[in-house]
Amino acid sequence: MSRQGNCALRPLPVGRCPMPSEDRPKIAASILSADFSRLGEQVAEAAKGGADYIHIDVMDGRFVPNLTMGPAVVRSIRRWTEVPFDVHMMVEAPERFVRDFVEAGGNIITVHAEACTHLHFVVQRIKECGARAGVAINPATPLSAVEAVLPDLDQLLVMTVNPGFGGQGFIATMVDKIERARAMLDKRGLAADLEVDGGINADTAAAAVKAGATVLVAGSAVYNDKISVAEAIRALRNSIG
Ligand code: DX5
Ligand code: ZN
Repeated sequence: MSRQGNCALRPLPVGRCPMPSEDRPKIAASILSADFSRLGEQVAEAAKGGADYIHIDVMDGRFVPNLTMGPAVVRSIRRWTEVPFDVHMMVEAPERFVRDFVEAGGNIITVHAEACTHLHFVVQRIKECGARAGVAINPATPLSAVEAVLPDLDQLLVMTVNPGFGGQGFIATMVDKIERARAMLDKRGLAADLEVDGGINADTAAAAVKAGATVLVAGSAVYNDKISVAEAIRALRNSIG
């Protein structure tokens, strides 16, 4: 299948979004690198190609120097797949929009620790709204920033690039941070997912998984002009064994 339009792909009726149950690293296809002129089809291609989550990068032009999409876009792509939506909010004071993104179809809502004055409150707000709660930290933010909320989390996201843009290189020193995050979770007996985001491709994914990551976000490695979405997901999967 090429990156160009595939007429066989059509929107689905909105249904429930079952969480993946297999005990293997999950792949979250980040639509930031997709062709926005046919976003629904690109979402369906990732789902058909075996993506475990669709990763949706929400940027507000303040927390990060870029703007992307809001709840209306999430709602419009929701009917293209039942694969869970992993919403990554790179937004100041994200509590203002949590309910909107859940109502639009977000299943996992991840906020940045750096963007929340009252992080514990925001995590509870996400759960009250019926979604799984995630917290992200930038490369320069220490793990201690999330320690107090760790027992409340369904997902911890360790950024492996500075957020804002796709196609950046994996920051190799983050491998040690992923290992320490893994140790923090294991020491407390916590089953939260450990997600990594930024520069993940068939060359870097294995190191992240070896360090303890359980969810791999991949944007430019999945949506590019070189291989189809399905082939790219297969290559990522093969690279981690
Ligand atoms: C960057 C975003 C990522 C982005 C990753 O701020 O959070 O999800 O799509 O893109 P790649 O995989 O190309 O580094
Ligand atoms: Zn992201």
